[in-house]
Amino acid sequence: MIKFDTSHAHLQENIFDYQQAVTLAHTQLHEKSGAGNDFVGWVEWPNSYDHEEFERIKAAAKRLEGQCDVLLVCGIGGSYLGARAAIEMMRGLYCQTKPEVIFIGNTFSSTYFKQVEAYIQDKEIVLNVISKSGTTTETAMAFRMLKQLMEKKYSKEECQKRILATTDKARGTLKELADKEGYETFVIPDDIGGRYSVLTAVGLLPMALAGIDIDAVMKGFAQAYEDLKNPDLHVNPAYQYAVARRILENQGKDAEMLVTYEPQMAMIAEWWKQLFGESEGKEGKGILPCSATFSTDLHSLGQFIQEGKKMLYETLLLVETPTLDGTFPSDGENLDNMNYLAGKSLDWVNKMACQGTLEAHEVTGNVPNLIITMPDMKEETFGYMCYFFFKACAVSVYLLNVNPFNQPGVEVYKKNMFRLLGKN
Ligand code: PA5
Repeated sequence: MIKFDTSHAHLQENIFDYQQAVTLAHTQLHEKSGAGNDFVGWVEWPNSYDHEEFERIKAAAKRLEGQCDVLLVCGIGGSYLGARAAIEMMRGLYCQTKPEVIFIGNTFSSTYFKQVEAYIQDKEIVLNVISKSGTTTETAMAFRMLKQLMEKKYSKEECQKRILATTDKARGTLKELADKEGYETFVIPDDIGGRYSVLTAVGLLPMALAGIDIDAVMKGFAQAYEDLKNPDLHVNPAYQYAVARRILENQGKDAEMLVTYEPQMAMIAEWWKQLFGESEGKEGKGILPCSATFSTDLHSLGQFIQEGKKMLYETLLLVETPTLDGTFPSDGENLDNMNYLAGKSLDWVNKMACQGTLEAHEVTGNVPNLIITMPDMKEETFGYMCYFFFKACAVSVYLLNVNPFNQPGVEVYKKNMFRLLGKN
């Protein structure tokens, strides 16, 4: 379902020379014998997920169907990015079917909160709060304010229907609060970290509430499990990508720019940045993950990529068939001189821009390009793509001798912030 191409990457080592190291990393992952092995629950998740809870997710979505104008999804980091990436990729950016989805609890911005608060004032709302720890400050602050707003707007019974909590199965502030208030709860598994959790209730519940077919998502996820369970580099494109990253790093490339030509995939890039950045960036090591949406960013970052410091490579995340397409119209007067495109499909123009840019960056600019191609932006492809990137990331990071499943560095700013906020 996903194709991987290194023919534009100018790799100076042979990918297949890494077979032994990849087989070791694969074994560590599947046999839970590597660093961070408490957090590899996602490896078997395409088959081992809780089917009873999965049905509860679908039932909740069905029960609330048509009852809200706005779905508020309150969470941050791993409890936010996957759901947003999924919903934007599959529904597009201006989806006309209800509910509208607003993500909140992912910033301290007072302006952002107040604007959302004013916007939802007269709308029917459903709130899904997502936090494994239950104590993340951005999320907890937004949730308290939204809960109070909903308690003014709805009866206690109605709030119990409209507020759904996704958190630890047994412990934590949010679990206790939800149980006390009578909210339905969904589980973030103990052995799956935030950035690997999009196909647990963390992402599946918002997707289902937004009207996405999560059966199809899980079908693609399971297909990827089957296709990518062989450690042989000749048949495993996720592992080829894992190795290609390391080879390019050895060639002095310290940054990887994930490039998409679809604005509705910009959040996929944000999700991917967390996955790779938080998994790899520790002990003074790692490739900096950054992203761009072309052709938009060709008019801004394009100059740097073409002629700036030769520190980066691009990974193109391409889509074969767009969700929607149209034909460019002819114009009798042709005052804008655009008739040379008359009759062409809009997506064909996008693809020609991609081809021309690849040549400019690779050949003229000497910037290596890896190419990952997906068939479309639909449910099965999304599920498949998640597993592809999970495995590629974990193996790539094991090849660097780093634990892909912890994030010790993110606590440092919190300690300082809590001191300033006067938290005990
Ligand atoms: O990947 C991570 O661990 C983080 O991004 C967390 O998901 C994020 O900080 C949110 O944490 P929590 O779900 O505990 O609110």
